[in-house]
Amino acid sequence: MTKRSLPLAKVYGLLEPGPVLLLTTAHKGKANVMAMSWHTMMEFEPPLVGCVVSGNDFSFAALKTTRECVLNIPTVELAQQVVGCGNTSGQDIDKFARFGLTTKPASVVAVPLITECFANMECRVADTRMVNRYNFFVLEVVKAWIEPTCKNPSTLHHRGKGAFMVAGETIKLPSRMK
Ligand SMILES: Cc1cc2nc3c(=O)[nH]c(=O)nc-3n(C[C@H](O)[C@H](O)[C@H](O)COP(=O)(O)O)c2cc1C
Repeated sequence: MTKRSLPLAKVYGLLEPGPVLLLTTAHKGKANVMAMSWHTMMEFEPPLVGCVVSGNDFSFAALKTTRECVLNIPTVELAQQVVGCGNTSGQDIDKFARFGLTTKPASVVAVPLITECFANMECRVADTRMVNRYNFFVLEVVKAWIEPTCKNPSTLHHRGKGAFMVAGETIKLPSRMK
C-alpha cells in the first residue's frame, strides 16, 4: 500500500461514521496500540477529535505525558487484531508482535502508524481540561494519510460486548455542505 497525504479538511469524513480505531502511542521507547470507539469529531479544520481513554489503560499515561498519538482506521480484515488489541494491555505484551501488526514512522509525531490500516491520522493533544474529570482528550489532527485504492472501506462499528456492525452501502443525497 502506498498512502497519500489527505487534506486535513477531509478528515471529518473518515471519523464521522464512528469507526472503531486503533490508537497508537509511544512512551519511554515503547510503542503501544489499543482499540478505541469512544471518539467524536469536534471541528472541521483544523480537525479536532474528542476521545475517552480510560485511566486504567496503559495508553493513558503515554497519551497524557507525550501529548501525541496516531488514530489508525482498520477494516473488517483486521477484526481479530482489533479485538486482540482491545482485550490485552501493552503493560504485559508487545501487541504489534502478538497480533502481527506492522508499523511505520509518522511524519510529524514520534508515534508509529499502523501500515495495515487504510487511514492514519497523526495527532497532538490540544486540550486536557476534561481529562481529570472524564478521561476525555481533545486531539488535533496535524497530518493525515489515506490508501487511495480503498474507496469503500468496510470499517467496524462496535455495538458492545464483542458485537460489531460492518460498514455497508453508501448512498448520496443532496448536501449544503461546502
Ligand atoms: C471495540 C473496542 C472499543 C474500545 N474502545 C475504547 C475506548 O474508546 N476507550 C477506552 O478507554 N477503551 C476502549 N476499549 C478498551 C481498550 O482497548 C482496552 O482497555 C485495552 O486493553 C487498553 O490497552 P492498553 O492497556 O495497552 O492501553 C475498547 C475495546 C474494544 C474491544
